[in-house]
Amino acid sequence: MADLLTTQRLTKNFEGLVAVNQVNFRIQEGQVTGLIGPNGSGKTTLFNLLSGLFTPTEGTVSFLGTDVTRVPPHKRVQMGMARTFQLVSVFDSLTVWENLVLSNIRFKTEQQSLRNFFFASSRRKDIADDCMSSLELVGLESRASSVTSELSYGDKRMLEIAIALSLRPSVLLLDEPLAGLSDHEIGEVVSLIYKVKKNFALGIIEHKISKIVELVDRLCVMNYGRIICEGVPGQVLCDPQVRECYWGKEDNKC
Ligand SMILES: Nc1ncnc2c1ncn2[C@@H]1O[C@H](COP(=O)(O)OP(=O)(O)OP(=O)(O)O)[C@@H](O)[C@H]1O
Ligand SMILES: [Mg+2]
Repeated sequence: MADLLTTQRLTKNFEGLVAVNQVNFRIQEGQVTGLIGPNGSGKTTLFNLLSGLFTPTEGTVSFLGTDVTRVPPHKRVQMGMARTFQLVSVFDSLTVWENLVLSNIRFKTEQQSLRNFFFASSRRKDIADDCMSSLELVGLESRASSVTSELSYGDKRMLEIAIALSLRPSVLLLDEPLAGLSDHEIGEVVSLIYKVKKNFALGIIEHKISKIVELVDRLCVMNYGRIICEGVPGQVLCDPQVRECYWGKEDNKC
């Protein structure tokens, strides 16, 4: 299976704190890769390095065979890497539709002049089609003209995922997509992921391991900035080091 996104000895220091430490990570074509680990273990920092939000202190990131270590975030999106954030990141004061179209114009059009930004691009049929089909996928089509601040947190999460889907990524990175959701909303997001996962390679950070264990093909575990174990979920979750960092020394359930 081809590697789509890889890191080589990726490291990020924050004034003495090594948040990500010599990490070799990969997301392969056609696979769902799960990333778990205790709070503060470096998962979000790793996603921020993958998506270009942070520049590494050391090491490299390759995407689709190209070294993208110094490529800015918006260019990585244009290359086919989309992501969502641990805290939902949408514009509350815009409508649902405007949020979608704005991201599409930003990432799918080359021209960045104000005139093009507000007029020409917003009439492009391919953009409107992608926005509408992803809104339908997440079940928010009836809320297209709602102001985003009126949406529940769960619906905002769905909107954020819809925006990522509308960009037609080849790799999608989801940072704790189930955080802060009710059990019902969690069920909806998990079913959506099952429905769309064939369209791209997926990287997913999640604390609720039981909700993703069936979904992921490969599971990686981070602790203190390092990947301490990776492989098929059944084996990884039985690894003594993993069990110790999650459930303490006394655990012996496997
Ligand atoms: N911008 C930053 N400046 C300084 N320190 C940071 C920054 N971002 C993260 N850190 C630190 O890096 C470490 C790893 O943080 P990170 O957010 O990557 O952890 P995480 O595994 O995503 O945790 P959680 O499960 O709580 O989301 C933490 O100690 C955090 O405080
Ligand atoms: Mg995090």
